[in-house]
Amino acid sequence: MIMKKEDLQALLNDMSLEEKIMQLVQLPGQTFEETAAVTGLADMEKAKKMKSLAGSVLGLHGADKIKAIQKEYMENHPHHIPLMFMLDVIHGHDTVFPCPLAQGATFDPEVARVGAQVQAKEAAADGVQVTFSPMADLVRDARWGRVVESTGEDPYLNGLMTAAMVKGYQGDSIADKEHVAACVKHFAAYGAAEAGRDYNTCEISEHTLRDQYLQGYRLPISEGARLVMTSFNTLNGIPSSGNKWLMRDVLRDEMGFDGVLISDWAAIAEMVNWGFAQDLKEAAALAMDAGVDIDMCTESYSGSLEALIKEGRVSEALLDKAVMRVLELKNDLGLFEDPYHGASEERYKEITLSKDSREKARDAVRKSLVLLENKEGTLPLSSKKIALIGPYVDDKDTHSAWAITCNKENNITLRQAFEEEFAGSDVEVKYSNGSLMVDNDSDLGFLKFHSDTFREDNDRLMKEALEIADECDTIIMCLGESLMQSGESTSRAKITLPQVQLELFGKVKEKGKKLITLIFTGRPLDLGDIPEVSDALLICWRPGTESGHGIVDVLTGKTSPQGKLPMSFPWTVGQEPLYYNRFNTGRPKPFEGASIFTSRYLDCPNEARYPFGFGLTYSEFEISEVKLDKTSITRGSSASDKAIASVEIKNTGAYAATQTVQLYIRDMAGSVVRPIKELKGFKKVSLGPGENSQVSFEITEEMLKFWTASNRFESEAGKFKVFIGLDSATENEAEFELV
Ligand code: GLC
Repeated sequence: MIMKKEDLQALLNDMSLEEKIMQLVQLPGQTFEETAAVTGLADMEKAKKMKSLAGSVLGLHGADKIKAIQKEYMENHPHHIPLMFMLDVIHGHDTVFPCPLAQGATFDPEVARVGAQVQAKEAAADGVQVTFSPMADLVRDARWGRVVESTGEDPYLNGLMTAAMVKGYQGDSIADKEHVAACVKHFAAYGAAEAGRDYNTCEISEHTLRDQYLQGYRLPISEGARLVMTSFNTLNGIPSSGNKWLMRDVLRDEMGFDGVLISDWAAIAEMVNWGFAQDLKEAAALAMDAGVDIDMCTESYSGSLEALIKEGRVSEALLDKAVMRVLELKNDLGLFEDPYHGASEERYKEITLSKDSREKARDAVRKSLVLLENKEGTLPLSSKKIALIGPYVDDKDTHSAWAITCNKENNITLRQAFEEEFAGSDVEVKYSNGSLMVDNDSDLGFLKFHSDTFREDNDRLMKEALEIADECDTIIMCLGESLMQSGESTSRAKITLPQVQLELFGKVKEKGKKLITLIFTGRPLDLGDIPEVSDALLICWRPGTESGHGIVDVLTGKTSPQGKLPMSFPWTVGQEPLYYNRFNTGRPKPFEGASIFTSRYLDCPNEARYPFGFGLTYSEFEISEVKLDKTSITRGSSASDKAIASVEIKNTGAYAATQTVQLYIRDMAGSVVRPIKELKGFKKVSLGPGENSQVSFEITEEMLKFWTASNRFESEAGKFKVFIGLDSATENEAEFELV
């Protein structure tokens, strides 16, 4: 049974100061793996002490291993308090779903919830009790490699998708053996890292922080996520792990978060590098002041808290509050009753990578793919002589770098899926990798790719590719970033495909055949001439285990693509950061009467090449004008006062397809300037050829609230525009007033 609060309090009162401090220490998994020393700790005695008293560990999985560690740990612990096991299960444990950015492209929170549920079930059976997911950072800069882990550039979409993930991970009770505790990260505004560079500073006004960046965290936290993780960045000069205002006033008091606040890896100690703390001891004090409960993988807390308490710099009452939050989390996970949280090697083997889980992942792939071009109905495939060319024909790294427990051998490649699909048919398919994945001497983070035989290997692949290109009438280019080119610490100043792939594309296009291009990527890319040259262009993201199957389902027309861009695709990296919900400026382009003196580039459009919310289907849709049942709603009236905005949507094409109808609102004038559009709703509509449907949205005062110049979240009377369309560039509008 779950311990009562008074039992926990009695336990806390009975613990020594050292025991209490060590509950706030998280060690890396290798500390517990065989003879590995505690990372970074030279003193083995200290290491042994930490191993025997640390409150949690990250990075381990494996039911039998974890059970053995837990058994030994609890036998040795003075109060037999269970250890807590945490791991980054971001978009898959064994059955890997499309990366979170791809899940954002589904515009379907249910996809995120189902994915998180499958991930939790597999991870929990494998011994994991807490996942460091969902990442709810608002992202606007494609140079930042971690956009792959986000659900995109819109706060409203991010909130819905990440709240659904929390629901999937945690279920109705985190004590349930098929669920884990979720951790919302990285608090806060990590996505605003300057120049798209990881671990960098963020300089944003409190207004922007509140109005744009905090929205995405708010919903998953109110959904009941049990942990929040601090971010690496400074916010206006203050590192998050030492930001008392952000963590106590905003996160805990305003947002009502009463769970465990864990630092990101070494983030407490790194306040010394930032020049915010003189030394680890001061860093520990600042983090405790800010309310950081767990120190991830440094000696800040273990090395200094005892002295800080004895000196009276940190009160023992403050320590006790932090320890109680950790004990409550362990208690709510049911660890005092079942320290193994139901982990079972047998059950894990039985449930993992099940047919049902794979089918759910395959469905998520289908819904995440974004069709950017489809000239003259090139897709769905109709050719009998097809060539697949490119490194993603056979490359099994179709997951993301954050699918850290993924066994890529389970990933279905394009070749495998095509061979299955067309076996025994009259469709002839030829295959060639055509080029290596990346250029020689590419920096791929953990490794620098180099091959002494790079040029000859690449020339051989190219020759082979050009030969099969001659023998077919339709070529499918299977191109993309390397797995290691997005994720943590993979910021890129150039966001094109590797040069070696662009060379391949350039040679193949000269063949003048029908050209379909598939792009595997963890971020928006500068696509160069690929969109102009390709007859069809499909963004596949990092699709995970069921890559090949989901992509072939769409290419063959079993289902129409329905994905919508969760992040704007630029013409060039020089436009970054780039996002649809921007401000109009005083000189919007085109500005009448002053064509050159407007906010613009001399050498590039302002607009995205493909805007947020954009994605084609195999069919055509028409949308009527926006109809409003009333042209004003009254402020402060009962919640019932609302307007209804409606459109008729008709499938005028030849295919059944699912369309995502999007509602945007613009506040024409406010006490602070307001974005030219903000997503406030979306609905998916599935229609057969010739079918139509009415789509309606409620417009309420709540939707019109924002952080005003008075730094309050409220609405202001005035004129508004409502837009309903199929992407953020829609001009299908109507006007109304808030009076
Ligand atoms: C990393 C990441 C964070 C992750 C943590 C534990 O540095 O920033 O997202 O959860 O460390 O692996």
